[in-house]
Amino acid sequence: MMEHGVTDLQTLVGILKAGGEPTRLRLLALLAGGELSVKDMTDILGQSQPRVSRHLKLLADSGLVKRHAEGAWAYYGLASGAPGYDFVHWLIGELDAEEPRLERDCERLTILRDTQSKQAQTYFAQVAESWDRIRNLHVPDSSVEAAILDIAGNEKVELLLDLGTGTGRMLELLAGGYERGIGIDSSREMVAVARSKLANAEIGHAQIRQADIADLDAETGPADLIVLHQVLHYFDDPGLILTHARRALRIGGSILVVDIAPHDLEFLRTEHAHRRLGLSHTQIEAWADGLGLDIAQFRSIPNRDSEEGLTVCLWLLKDRTDGRKA
Ligand SMILES: C[S@@+](CC[C@H](N)C(=O)[O-])C[C@H]1O[C@@H](n2cnc3c(N)ncnc32)[C@H](O)[C@@H]1O
Repeated sequence: MMEHGVTDLQTLVGILKAGGEPTRLRLLALLAGGELSVKDMTDILGQSQPRVSRHLKLLADSGLVKRHAEGAWAYYGLASGAPGYDFVHWLIGELDAEEPRLERDCERLTILRDTQSKQAQTYFAQVAESWDRIRNLHVPDSSVEAAILDIAGNEKVELLLDLGTGTGRMLELLAGGYERGIGIDSSREMVAVARSKLANAEIGHAQIRQADIADLDAETGPADLIVLHQVLHYFDDPGLILTHARRALRIGGSILVVDIAPHDLEFLRTEHAHRRLGLSHTQIEAWADGLGLDIAQFRSIPNRDSEEGLTVCLWLLKDRTDGRKA
C-alpha cells in the first residue's frame, strides 16, 4: 500500500520539472553546501549571469530555493521546511560526486571560498592595528557594549568562546564574566594584537588561538557562552558559522550574536570586506530555530550619531534543551 506523503500531485510535478535538468541539479548540489550569491554561482558554473538567473528563478518558482536580495547582490539557499526539501536532499545524495562536472563545481567552490577568505584576511591584516578605531566608525560602540554587559555579563560562566575575536575586545569587556576565555581568529595580525592587548590588560584567564571558525576542531568547547560580535556579516553563509558555533555549545548554553541590521551600504562590501549587508531578525530566527536555539533576548540599537544610520542588533540564542537532556 502507498504511504502517505505531504506533497500534492501538482506541487510534486513542479518540483520534478524544476529539478529535472542538469544545470539546475548542479545548482541544487552547490546550494546544499550553503547559501551562495548569483555571482558565485555564475563563476562556478562558467555560464552567463542571465542564464544562471533564469535557472534560479525556475527553482525559486517551484519553491525549492529561496532568494534573498541584499543591495546589488542576491543570495540563494535551499528552502528549508518547504515541500520538496527532503526530496532534494535525497536527490543530491543519489548524485555521483565523482561525476566530472560535479567534481569541478566542488573544486571551483573550494577555490572561490579560499579566494574570498584570503581577501578578508588581507583586509584584516591591514586594519588589525587600527581595528578598535575602525569598529567605532559605523556602529555605536559604547551603547552596544553596555547592552552586551547587560545581557551577557551578569552571570559568571565557566568557558566563554569568542569567535572571530579580532583584537580581543569582547574577552576584555566580559573578563569578569568567565572563568576561562578563548578567542579564536584566523588573522595572524589580529591574533598578535589581541594577545598583546590581553597581556597589557593583565587578563591571564583568556587565551587566543589562530584558527578558522568555519572549521573548528571537535575539541573546541563545550562553551557556556559563545560570542559572535560583528563577525557573521563577513561570511556568505552566516547560518553555517552558527552551525559550527552550535556544535561547540554546552547543553543549556547561549550564543550571543551582535551584528548590523539590514542596510544598503554597498561600500562596506567593496571596501571593508563585508559579504552580507546586515542580518535580519527573520534570518537569525530561522537559523536559530533550525539549530534548536530560542531567541531569549533581542535588542536593537540605532546609531543616531552617524549619517549612515546603521543599527546594531543583539540576539541571545539559548539552547532549547536547557540542560534537561543530553
Ligand atoms: C569585524 S572583525 C570583529 C572582531 C571582534 N569580534 C570585534 O567585534 O571587535 C571580524 C573578525 O573575524 C575574523 N575572521 C574572519 N573570517 C574568519 C574565519 N574564517 N575564522 C576566524 N576568524 C575569522 C577576522 O580576522 C576579524 O578579526
